[in-house]
Amino acid sequence: MAPSHVQEPSADRRLSTLVRHLLPSSPRRTAAAAAEDSSATLESSPTMASQGCSVFAGLAQAPEDPILGVTVAFNKDPSPNKVNLGVGAYRTEEGKPLVLNVVRRAEQMLVNDPTRYKEYLPITGLADFNKLSAKLIFGADSPAIQENRVATVQCLSGTGSLRVGGEFLARHYHEHTIYIPQPTWGNHVKVFTLSGLTVKTYRYYDPATRGLDLKGFLEDLSSAPTGAIVLLHACAHNPTGVDPTIEEWEQIRQLMRSKSMLPFFDSAYQGFASGSLDKDAQSVRMFVADGGELLMAQSYAKNMGLYGERVGALSIVCGSADVAGRVESQLKLVTRPMISSPPLHGASIVATILKDSEMYHEWTVELKAMADRIISMRQQLFDALKARGTPGDWSHIIKQIGMFTFTGLNSEQVAFMRQEYHIYMTSDGRISMAGLNAKNVNQLADAIHAAVTQLK
Ligand SMILES: Cc1ncc(COP(=O)(O)O)c(C=O)c1O
Repeated sequence: MAPSHVQEPSADRRLSTLVRHLLPSSPRRTAAAAAEDSSATLESSPTMASQGCSVFAGLAQAPEDPILGVTVAFNKDPSPNKVNLGVGAYRTEEGKPLVLNVVRRAEQMLVNDPTRYKEYLPITGLADFNKLSAKLIFGADSPAIQENRVATVQCLSGTGSLRVGGEFLARHYHEHTIYIPQPTWGNHVKVFTLSGLTVKTYRYYDPATRGLDLKGFLEDLSSAPTGAIVLLHACAHNPTGVDPTIEEWEQIRQLMRSKSMLPFFDSAYQGFASGSLDKDAQSVRMFVADGGELLMAQSYAKNMGLYGERVGALSIVCGSADVAGRVESQLKLVTRPMISSPPLHGASIVATILKDSEMYHEWTVELKAMADRIISMRQQLFDALKARGTPGDWSHIIKQIGMFTFTGLNSEQVAFMRQEYHIYMTSDGRISMAGLNAKNVNQLADAIHAAVTQLK
């Protein structure tokens, strides 16, 4: 009920206002009519009347996201020569986003199939998609799959999988601290904190070598509590592009298992790092092969180019089939009030591709082509800096792997490159190699050269 001093607009008047809003604007809709509408709306809102302009008037402007904010700034730059190396999304040699041919083909098949409906999926998602996703990351011959010890639920891409996994652990696991690498993907801290976990970091990157700080990594895990959760990037560590070798993974595995720590793998780049789906899953498979338990967050954003479709899966490898069944039942209780059930379209594309051997093969070829183009851009950037005699050792550009290079440029140099060369990257000096091509690599090399020679 509106307070008595506020005049309720008549039903007729409300309806005519609504009609005017719904109809395309016509010359008859004058400025006076618009003014009349707005005064009617203001008068009819008791909260607005009492607060001046809005109940949210006291809200502070939130800062831009550190990664997505780079694109916001890029879009505002009128320069025709601007280059966006901020966002982690693949671009072709022509600088265009890419939809894989195999994805287009799968979509056509789905669209042309008259038996398909748009019904809700079960809470756990598309069953085929879940099975095939587990097989993709753990391997077809994985003992955990053969023994039915894996509970998989479809989630909203990698982020949603991390969020559901985090909340599940906060509810059901005895240790509430998760250790994440320093540095890591910027969203990890927020995702896990909001899941109800306490976030701490372990040393990962050595700025001196621009490589792995294995000693610091192992020391920090050694002093962490028994049973702690440890977030591990399965491959193509973001933002550093630095991955442990297989021997280093083995040391990490042994230490973690000896302290009963729970691995939570984040796999956002399977196939994107080396071009081989199996090679990029090696770290994860080592932890499954020892029979221990773990969580796995999988994303199809990069490796199938399904960014905006938000396709991913959370798998929990359990000690027995019985436990996996109960884990799945509890995962449903996490997902249901969060998103009710996951989306159908993207998961159907993935399942269509993964279950057809010919389409699967086509995908691996396209995936390798993306990975190879990125690897070749590493070489081209390295060569361009060498050709300019740019001070410093730039070999980390070819040693690092995956979508990103952690250049070692500081925030002042990053700001200089944006200002003078219209090159956009995150302030920590991370560049997305996928945004580079033969046309802009020299512009980047010129910018880096100027930045390191002029701003030391
Ligand atoms: C390490 C890491 N984890 C997870 C994600 C999540 O990606 P998405 O939610 O788009 O699958 C990203 C995306 O950049 C990432 O780099």
